[in-house]
Amino acid sequence: MILTLALSLALQTPPGEESVAPYARSDANAGATPFPDDRLWRTFGAAPGVARIVDRLVELNQNDPRIADIFKGQDLVRLRRVLKEQFCYILGGGCTYSGRDMKAAHHNMGLQTADMAALVENLQRAMRESGVPFAAQNQLLAKLAPMKRVVVTR
Ligand code: HEM
Repeated sequence: MILTLALSLALQTPPGEESVAPYARSDANAGATPFPDDRLWRTFGAAPGVARIVDRLVELNQNDPRIADIFKGQDLVRLRRVLKEQFCYILGGGCTYSGRDMKAAHHNMGLQTADMAALVENLQRAMRESGVPFAAQNQLLAKLAPMKRVVVTR
């Protein structure tokens, strides 16, 4: 009994280490279940619309004094690509998300609630500038909001 317990403890992932391989390819990694059809994807303007929103979001983050430092030195080409995949997947566009899971992607950043609020504000602005209706904006935000639990660690 004690041996079984010790063995099962030893086999668990050590604290601070991710149980998911950093670049594991699984669309379950996207952090949210997708909408069941492509209506929202089309409301967002499909691939060109989502590409514009993600590019603008990254640009706003880079120029936002509240969070710009967090984006310095990061691979923003990759970030844009996987964010587009993630949004496409969640919005029902049928893409496969090839990025890391949300915990692994953010675990060393020490992100705070205020950082998350700044990013959401920038995303709202990017969606508004792209002409996404307010109700549709909120549908995407409702999928992202629960991710705060794993993204924000301080
Ligand atoms: C719900 C909220 C968020 C979502 C959905 C999200 C989504 C993502 C995704 C898909 C990636 C790419 C993962 C990969 O490279 O495999 C990523 C990475 C990153 N995120 Fe977030 N993120 C969120 C919150 C934040 C916040 C609040 C910040 C900072 C203000 C942030 C900063 C970054 C940075 C700097 C990277 C690049 C990390 C790297 O390449 O090592 N994210 N995020």
